[in-house]
Amino acid sequence: MSNNTNLLEAVKNPHDEFYTQLKDIEKELKNYKKYFKDKVVYCNCDHPKKSKFFHYFFKNFKKLKLKKLISSCYVDQNLTLFDLSRNPPKSVYTIYDGTGKDEIKDLNGDGHFSSSECLNLLKQADIVVTNPPFSLFQKYLKQIIEHEKKFIIMGNLNALTYSSIKEKIETRQIWLGHSIRGGGTEFQIPDDYPLKAVNQRRDGYGRRFVSFGCVRWFTNLDHGFRPPFLLLNKKYHGNEDNYPKYDNFDAINVDRVKDIPMDYKGYIGVPITFLDKANYWQFRVEKFIRKGYNNKDLTLKGKYVYHRLLVKRNGNYWGKITQNLEKGVEKLNLKDIKGAIKDFTTAIKIDPACAKAYHLRSQANYLLDRNEQFLDDLKKYLNLKKK
Ligand SMILES: C[S@@+](CC[C@H](N)C(=O)[O-])C[C@H]1O[C@@H](n2cnc3c(N)ncnc32)[C@H](O)[C@@H]1O
Repeated sequence: MSNNTNLLEAVKNPHDEFYTQLKDIEKELKNYKKYFKDKVVYCNCDHPKKSKFFHYFFKNFKKLKLKKLISSCYVDQNLTLFDLSRNPPKSVYTIYDGTGKDEIKDLNGDGHFSSSECLNLLKQADIVVTNPPFSLFQKYLKQIIEHEKKFIIMGNLNALTYSSIKEKIETRQIWLGHSIRGGGTEFQIPDDYPLKAVNQRRDGYGRRFVSFGCVRWFTNLDHGFRPPFLLLNKKYHGNEDNYPKYDNFDAINVDRVKDIPMDYKGYIGVPITFLDKANYWQFRVEKFIRKGYNNKDLTLKGKYVYHRLLVKRNGNYWGKITQNLEKGVEKLNLKDIKGAIKDFTTAIKIDPACAKAYHLRSQANYLLDRNEQFLDDLKKYLNLKKK
């Protein structure tokens, strides 16, 4: 059973008790430190005694200069006594302002993130940070967007293909976080959790973990990370057979990001993992096509293809930089080093802060034994990368 199958099981499970590990929280949240000063943070799917999200903010309350930390958790009213052995018997919340203790109080209701009690807590918050239930991700995200909150949350990449969410990605109202761009992410699960997945292990203390592919961070805060320009070297013209068009949409299909042709100006259908590598200055994400969506699935020679993003090259200001970088790389490959330097210089003229252009020009200068220029470009590249 694959990582993704684990996640499918989790998505169907209404009691998805998967606990995010502190190391994963730290890795992501270190990129947002400047946003927390004087802010109220709310973790609304988190028992204050169990959640590492609460733990992280409680421990770093002073360092982050937080104003308040709120945490609340849910208890399914339909749980059996057996289930309750691993769940808090009551839904609780805590509000910590940095003074005194984090006193845990009972909620009157079940602690559902959309209950009136929890909505009142949400209204006090500036930033929501948690890993909400995978099974309710759409509803959860819709609520925090409606309440105009900033958020850093975990979710399933495939959830983005739902119409309410895809539109937010298409219009750049939400984007991926920094630290997870592929691979599996491990979560701790209770000992008695009924999960059949194979990607499970126990650590030296006997704790049980399961790994999910397709889990990502989602946010509407700028963490500063931009995937580098994709340097593409495949061509459409002359290789049309490698790029079949969909039967029902004027776009070519590309299964691997590295095969995207550099010279195709129309729509390109790519897997949704493209988002991990997408540089929005280079490509615009125009549309999500969800498999099984209103009979509008894309087909290739009569067969359905899995979820696809339709992307288009950016022909604007930023697109011009990429085109010059790509032309330069092509010339480097053809050993036209001086020609390549010209193209990288044009890219730098358009954007004097384009780290990639300095990096490439430094390599070209190195090939021509221009040591001074090589070092100069390398220094500029390293300085820009630090920012
Ligand atoms: C994937 S787990 C993550 C737990 C915790 N946030 C963490 O990251 O360690 C999702 C949590 O949401 C809780 N939950 C389920 N339905 C909920 C709801 N309607 N409102 C609030 N929390 C809910 C579950 O009990 C579970 O603890």
